[in-house]
Parts: sequence; structure tokens; C-alpha cells
Amino acid sequence: MISSDISDAPIGIFDSGIGGLTVYMAVRKLLPYENIVYLGDTARVPYGTKSADVVRQYSKTNTEFLLSKEVKVVVVACNTASASSISFLKKSFPDIPIFGVIEPTIAQLRSHSDNLSKIGVIGTNTTISSGVYQEKIGNLYPKMQILSKACPLFVPLVEEGVLENNLTFNTIDYYLSQWKAEDLDALLLGCTHYPLLIPALSHYFGESVEIIDSAKDTASHLQKILADRGVLNQSSQHGSDTIFVTDDIPLFKKTANLFMNTDGFNFFHI
Ligand code: DGL
Repeated sequence: MISSDISDAPIGIFDSGIGGLTVYMAVRKLLPYENIVYLGDTARVPYGTKSADVVRQYSKTNTEFLLSKEVKVVVVACNTASASSISFLKKSFPDIPIFGVIEPTIAQLRSHSDNLSKIGVIGTNTTISSGVYQEKIGNLYPKMQILSKACPLFVPLVEEGVLENNLTFNTIDYYLSQWKAEDLDALLLGCTHYPLLIPALSHYFGESVEIIDSAKDTASHLQKILADRGVLNQSSQHGSDTIFVTDDIPLFKKTANLFMNTDGFNFFHI
């Protein structure tokens, strides 16, 4: 008889597209023995221009799909879905741990720097207009000054792999030129696509502005959840890497390969 243990079950991660792979990479680095199933909803990306109701429905079908793969936890590696859907998902699927990228990031904010007094938050239209970051940061750190700005064109730049050329810099300038004079301590990337623009953003703002993204903090939070529940994979073999996409595989792979090595990954279209 083959014994199966929940510890061997995969971690489920979903995003609207490619950006959640930034979380994937951090999870893989921290948890090499875990099996991971990723769903990139490339047929319906972007989420950031859609209403919260629509994103909630997409998040529900994505979670159902991951549950059909018998995952032991669901990580919502999309800020837009995290901003609009987490409590809804938790209520709809009470038997499985589900969390997003926003809370782990905000909880760890202070560890990034003791002296954060002014922070700029950028994200999609839906994330920024939800006010979630502004509210949660304000509640935890009432003295922090928070600026926020939606930068919707950053997502298509990343999906197209336009990461560091004139078009990238012109687009950054278009949205954020006014922040150059703001003397920001940090720029919080409230979108899982944006870490791929870190080289360009760092160049644009200079070293004095710390750039904070959610990938590492989300991965650490995941490790803690699995450890607390006693379901970390005990294998000493590298875990499997499985990626499902709802649209074209070659295009997804081509962009993914710009920033990660997908050799040995299994790709499937659903
Ligand atoms: N992954 C989404 C996020 O983190 C950005 C892409 C989209 O708009 O779907 O908000």
C-alpha cells in the first residue's frame, strides 16, 4: 500500500499571470523539498483593471482548481486578488489555509528598516483603490506617511518582458516623477509583477529609496504556517515544479525564462 501524507501534498500558488512567479521563486528558495503547483490565469490577466467582484469570482475558480490538485495550502500570489478576495476565500474554503501577499508584507515592514517614516505604495488600479495597503499600514504604523499611486501600465510591460529600456523608464517617469522630490524612505511594490522592474525602479530612484516587495515575506509566512501545522515536506529530494496556465504556454515560458530557469518544470494548459 502506498502511504500518502498531507506533508507530501503540493503547495498551491495562483496569480493572474506571470508576476506570481516572483513569489514562486522565493518559496522555492526557502522550501526546496516542497512540491509546488502554480496557476497563472493568463487568459484573464489583468485582474488589476477589473472590479473586485469579478476578481473574487476568478479567485474562487483558481482556488477550486488548486484544490482539485489536492494542495495543502493556497497562496494568493497576486496583490489584486489578495486585496479583494482573501476574506471571501477564507469563508468559502474554511478547511484549507489560504493567505495572500499583503499581510505578511505589512507585518514585516518594520524589519526592513527602523527608520521608515515616508513610504510610497504602488499597485494596480483595483489594489490602490481598495485602500487596503493604506489602511493596514496606517493602522499598524500610525505615524508613517503613506503615498499611493496606481501604475496600470507596469503590468503589460512585465508581461511583455519590457523590463529595462526607454519605454520602461518613460513609463516609470510618467507615473512617479512627482515622487522624486518626495524624499521617500521606501517604495512598496504592491503588485507581484513589479519586482521584475526593481532594476529599473532602483536606477530611477537611487539607492536611498529602499524597495520592498512581498515575495520573501510571503515565503517566510508560508514556511511558518506549514511548520506550525506540522506539514512541511520531510523529503530530502527536490520538489516538483508544475505550472498550469489558462492561455498559451510558449509565451508564458518565454517571459518566465527572462528571469528564472524553468528547466525541469512541467507546463500544462487548462
Ligand atoms: N498580479 C497582479 C497583482 O499583483 C497584477 C497583474 C494583474 O493586474 O492581473 O496585482
